[in-house]
Amino acid sequence: MGRWNLFAVFLVASAGQLLTEEVDFHGGFSMIQRQQRQVLVESRPKPWDVHRYVLANFHKAGVHLTAGIFFSIFAALGVPPTSVGNVVYPCSLVNTCFNSDAPVRQMTDSYNASYAQKERKQKNRAPLYTAISVRDPLVMVASAYCYHRDGHEPLNKLVPEKELHGLGFADGAQFTADRILPLIQDIVGSLDDPANHTHVLSFERLTESSESFDKEVQDFMDFMFPDDLITEDERQQALKAATAFDARRNPSATEMGHSNSKDCERKALAAILQMKPGMLRTLHELRAKLGYNGSPSIH
Ligand SMILES: *[C@@H]1O[C@H](CO)[C@@H](O)[C@H](O)[C@H]1NC(C)=O
Ligand SMILES: *[C@@H]1O[C@H](CO)[C@@H](O)[C@H](O)[C@H]1NC(C)=O
Repeated sequence: MGRWNLFAVFLVASAGQLLTEEVDFHGGFSMIQRQQRQVLVESRPKPWDVHRYVLANFHKAGVHLTAGIFFSIFAALGVPPTSVGNVVYPCSLVNTCFNSDAPVRQMTDSYNASYAQKERKQKNRAPLYTAISVRDPLVMVASAYCYHRDGHEPLNKLVPEKELHGLGFADGAQFTADRILPLIQDIVGSLDDPANHTHVLSFERLTESSESFDKEVQDFMDFMFPDDLITEDERQQALKAATAFDARRNPSATEMGHSNSKDCERKALAAILQMKPGMLRTLHELRAKLGYNGSPSIH
């Protein structure tokens, strides 16, 4: 790999994304090509010929995790690279936006109710199936604080690390909450819209245990591939490919700079729970809308 490519992969990885290079990294596309040679040409339509799939994921609600699952499922099903797209806010980083109209696409920090409505209204297009990454908003903020305080994404514009650096837990929690709030609002807004074909991918269920990971991936596939759109064999292959991203089976799946010190997250969460009442009340309201009612916890 040339220096420029390495640099691009670094930027891409640092943006928390799983783009083409990384898919290849994980054996995705090359694996597909091998499979395509083995599988007999079938007349059955491919899922991406009859549906459009959007993975709408959000910073600190499992971008790396959900991208890994989503792309490895489609890789296992043999999606051609031309049918895969990526849109990451902001689009200024090298390689973070391409094929933005592809039938299999990741949208990171870029999906909201008005975009969904516009996409659904397009005439003569396949129906839109959207999966949205969801995590306890209070924990998202705690996780974002620790992640950016430790300088993991110097190029991130959403949470400018230079400004965050040097703020203690109390001011840092407020600063981070101000910046993560719009994402939480987009998650809630996208789910508020009682649109057809919108599915929740729960960070908590994906990380609780391997059984719960498998069930979440199976439910995700039931959602995406109704009416025997894929065979049982394809389904098993896809599930197997996705399990590479189960952190319980494969602890290195969460590495690559995407996990935090639990001690920091606990302290950040405590600081968030002491924040000014206005922001805290808003976070609690949004959290309740997403179905989180118990006390937040860091695992
Ligand atoms: C919604 O998302 C679209 C696509 O990413 C973006 O262009 C637009 O500015 C967003 N709208 C709002 C109200 O955030
Ligand atoms: C859901 O799908 C039905 C049937 O295609 C359509 O009539 C309806 O407008 C859709 N609802 C939304 C909110 O998109």
